[in-house]
Amino acid sequence: MSLRRKLVVGNWKMNGSLAGLAELGPIADSARDAGGVDVGICPPFTLIAAAVTRSGGLTIGAQDCHQAASGAHTGCVSAAMLKEAGAKLAIVGHSERRADQGESDALVRAKAEAALAAGLITIVCVGESEAEREAGDHLRVVTDMLAGSLPDDWAEGELVVAYEPVWAIGTGKVATPADVAQMHAALREALVARYGDRGGRVRILYGGSVKADNAAELFRCPDVDGGLVGGASLTAAQFVPIVEAAR
Ligand code: PGA
Repeated sequence: MSLRRKLVVGNWKMNGSLAGLAELGPIADSARDAGGVDVGICPPFTLIAAAVTRSGGLTIGAQDCHQAASGAHTGCVSAAMLKEAGAKLAIVGHSERRADQGESDALVRAKAEAALAAGLITIVCVGESEAEREAGDHLRVVTDMLAGSLPDDWAEGELVVAYEPVWAIGTGKVATPADVAQMHAALREALVARYGDRGGRVRILYGGSVKADNAAELFRCPDVDGGLVGGASLTAAQFVPIVEAAR
């Protein structure tokens, strides 16, 4: 058995509503039943505080945070603010933010440092584009992205890595178990080279079109410590079987 507990996190992206928080109840029930699996949900910022009151033991998180503690950054939210709202987790460097907001590896690293310093479980996302995979460049691209996006050290919180091939996000295309295993092995090697034994304890999630019908196979791959789930995390009906697959 792996020393690393499985972690399954739902990323609601710019979806969800107060009424939609009713989905948390059955998800929390299944998380309790699936003992040994950590389960989180990341709703939009505006729903975090309300989600915390209805979490039923789920880890509630955010989809981003600013790298500074406070200041003149209109529209942004700091890690300390997330913590005060009750969040225990933050995703940083999601490919949609890298693409839509032009986030660089250096910025993602600064955000990861801020989230970790606030004591948050911090999921740093990396992944290659379809063109990069077709060119056979994916291992180099992703390990370079990882190197640039990770902090050198952290004293608080927990570092988690998510491998999310951009071409698999929201497309229904899933990387094959062999491709996932190959990438996760490369990420593990990079983490151990950088952090020693501690790198062996960093959980590495797979994300990109994880669904009820492919989750079990993906979660069985070596060095896949759980999943980051977008579309299929919006309803308990779709998300619960994925949590169960992680048992
Ligand atoms: P998806 O999204 O499961 O809808 O492909 C995954 C993600 O972006 O984290």
